[in-house]
Amino acid sequence: MLFVADEKNMDKLLVALDVDSGARALELASQLRSVVGGFKVGSRLFTLEGPALVRTLVDSGARVFLDLKFHDIPNTVAQAVDSAVQSGAWMINVHASGGIPMMRAAADAGRSAAARLNRPAPLLIAVTVLTSMDDRTLSEVGVQRPLREHVIALARMTQDAGLDGVVASPQETAAIRAACGSGFVIVTPGIRGASAGTERNDQARTMGPAEAVDAGASYIVVGRPIIAATDPRKAAESIAAELNQK
Ligand code: C5P
Repeated sequence: MLFVADEKNMDKLLVALDVDSGARALELASQLRSVVGGFKVGSRLFTLEGPALVRTLVDSGARVFLDLKFHDIPNTVAQAVDSAVQSGAWMINVHASGGIPMMRAAADAGRSAAARLNRPAPLLIAVTVLTSMDDRTLSEVGVQRPLREHVIALARMTQDAGLDGVVASPQETAAIRAACGSGFVIVTPGIRGASAGTERNDQARTMGPAEAVDAGASYIVVGRPIIAATDPRKAAESIAAELNQK
């Protein structure tokens, strides 16, 4: 990591670049890059700006979490992961509900693309259950077991398929850490409170930055508390400082 002074702590802070133009994303990235551990590029920004933006961020020394949540037949997902590695993404995700063969194909593709391009393998993580879902919406799509049980089962499946970790809500983090062990990567959004401010936006179940790390998060993803702040750099610095106090 080029621009992180304290690898152990600030490194854990990933900023969601949920903005409406590549220009704004690059402006934020240049303000923030010396105080955060990387940037998340999601489907909105990627659909607008494509892999060129990812490459520009990567060329500036940033780590990019490409949050496109691939979910398709194994061959198509493998090809998409290969493309993501070509763009320089450091972390890539898929949907665990695509199944073990799909996840294995993704993991194999990540490793072989990285070997071919002579760079480190990307972190491959899975979304278990979207946090917008509850027991009812889950049962509407045919899943009858309780949501918490389903999340843990999908996290275990992700680990069995050879992926590096999962995205998890703050409320799921500790249980997944207990089920999947210390080496498993857990990426936690929904960060509010303490140095991340009191404005909850649409996040219902939240945790503060240090609290989420204490619960077992390897990385936290923070969007609006930083990108919508009057001074995004100052906002990021105070979250990094909270993490560094640990
Ligand atoms: O602005 P905020 O801090 O709420 O942004 C959180 C980011 O993490 C957004 O990009 C959001 O889409 C993403 N995310 C989330 N909850 C999930 C998965 C991803 O908030 N379960």
